[in-house]
Amino acid sequence: MLIKSAEFVTSNTEVHKLPAPTLPEYAFIGRSNVGKSSLINAMTSRKGLAKTSQKPGKTQLINHFIINGDWYLVDLPGYGFAQTSKKNRVEWERFIRKYLTRRENLQCVFVLIDSRHEPQKIDLDFCYWLGENGLPFMLVFTKADKQSGVKSDQNIAKFRKALLQWFEEVPQYFLTSAETRMGTDTILQTIDEINAN
Ligand code: GTP
Ligand code: MG
Repeated sequence: MLIKSAEFVTSNTEVHKLPAPTLPEYAFIGRSNVGKSSLINAMTSRKGLAKTSQKPGKTQLINHFIINGDWYLVDLPGYGFAQTSKKNRVEWERFIRKYLTRRENLQCVFVLIDSRHEPQKIDLDFCYWLGENGLPFMLVFTKADKQSGVKSDQNIAKFRKALLQWFEEVPQYFLTSAETRMGTDTILQTIDEINAN
């Protein structure tokens, strides 16, 4: 897919204030600092579109971007951010879960996972919750440029194996890097295919 335009639309904490659900929508979610905002910028080739930071907890709102005037890409705040208060964490859960379960135009949730790490409980639990709620999702392993391909493949295999305890089939996955743009075209192609159906 060629990105002809990529524009910021709105930032929200309230599900009822989101843009009208008239276009297909894809959301990026995952641990704080996993690289959600960076990957959105790499996919769209717009450096400052989504705000990124070395410090976890940068994205705090539901951010909508409109791509080619025809679909929404959504940057969500990360989960598992240790420095946040319990109250904030509960608040995050409340509004993100509400967004994910009520957003009728949401086509697929992309769950971002750091390819450098062994499977983490928080990511597996989140996938389980998506499955329980019947939400279609795919896995996006990030930061592939930071270690060898062999290491990434081992971690991906372990993660997929861990999911097999709950799922009959493991979801589609991508190995990506915001640094080298590895995998970004494949994600866009997948979105294109879903949009065409
Ligand atoms: P929150 O908004 O806090 O949840 O974080 P996020 O998931 O949006 O992460 P963000 O894109 O802000 O990136 C976090 C840090 O990781 C930044 O310092 C990025 O430069 C770095 N980073 C993200 N993706 C990559 C990648 O593919 N390769 C490398 N080397 N660094 C990356
Ligand atoms: Mg972010």
